[in-house]
Amino acid sequence: MKITIIQFSPSRNTFKVSELIKRELEQRNLEVQLIDITGKKEIFIKKNIQKFLAENVIKHDILLIGGPVYANHLQYHVQDLIKALPKPNDIWGKYAIPYVTYGGISSGIALKEAGELLKSSKRIVHAGMKVSAPHRMTRAILSEEFNKEKMLDNNFPQITELVNRIMQLNHNSISKSSVKSLTYNGLITTLKSNIIFKEKVMHEKRYPKVSIDQSICTVCGKCVKVCPVLHLAKKDNKIIENSQSPCIHCLNCIIQCPYNAIELKGDLEKGKAFLQKMILKNGNKEIPETSVYPISQINQNKNSTI
Ligand SMILES: Cc1cc2nc3c(=O)[nH]c(=O)nc-3n(C[C@H](O)[C@H](O)[C@H](O)COP(=O)(O)O)c2cc1C
Ligand code: SF4
Ligand code: SF4
Repeated sequence: MKITIIQFSPSRNTFKVSELIKRELEQRNLEVQLIDITGKKEIFIKKNIQKFLAENVIKHDILLIGGPVYANHLQYHVQDLIKALPKPNDIWGKYAIPYVTYGGISSGIALKEAGELLKSSKRIVHAGMKVSAPHRMTRAILSEEFNKEKMLDNNFPQITELVNRIMQLNHNSISKSSVKSLTYNGLITTLKSNIIFKEKVMHEKRYPKVSIDQSICTVCGKCVKVCPVLHLAKKDNKIIENSQSPCIHCLNCIIQCPYNAIELKGDLEKGKAFLQKMILKNGNKEIPETSVYPISQINQNKNSTI
């Protein structure tokens, strides 16, 4: 059985999970290809996802797609990636498994969106996984990164559980679709996510904007290296913003700049207050926090006794 993993991970949480899955699969003697689209020119500048996929993806039976939750949604580049997938064929397997990492506030409808898009691409969604992780936006806005103790540096039981599910896939019979199990967060979350938390609108209108103080910047290029969508670039001995690939507010550049030359412009106090309110109301309250779907009977019983 061959597995291809394609993932997008602006601030490396999802990447850690991808590597853990890969390692666990390889320990069971499975062949695994891990493709990271983060920072790839073909995807974010040339905007030719299909060409990138055709040139990089090798024959596989199961496709795993990983990405972060942004504003309750599957980050929109991951949605675009799934929309660009070819239908299953000689190279592309018919089974798919989405997984997401989120910052412990809400995983929203990200897995549901991933599952439905994969189903539309004619794949059978065998399982899904959500993982609670450090909230990467809070590290640059609040005094302390929320959920920072969920480091993802070591294997955790849900990785093994997911890999066990992959091992169980019996290619002689068609596995049942698990898409419905990914709608675990219910109608109110779906409505809120679609009406209030529109990810692209949040980036365009609500999140504070990154702004480079050219008088402090030494053009060291560290921010350019960590920008996952190539929004920042070096040109004429200056750092410029590329409007072709909009900022997705991962805030890597702010953390990495050694001279504090990048600041957030906008109503930062309002943003801070909103995040703090969300943490107080929802922080680490999603049960289970980290889970494989469909939830196994044993885990279901455990959760109902919490
Ligand atoms: C712009 C942005 C929006 C986010 N929205 C949410 C959210 O709605 N709910 C949540 O729990 N975490 C949210 N997070 C936290 C990320 O989902 C979390 O840190 C994730 O693991 C990041 O994955 P990555 O390191 O692979 O980029 C957000 C982070 C950013 C930067
Ligand atoms: S990391 Fe800071 S100093 Fe270096 S190029 Fe970027 S903005 Fe300038
Ligand atoms: S400009 Fe900064 S915050 Fe925006 S996507 Fe690039 S690294 Fe992330």
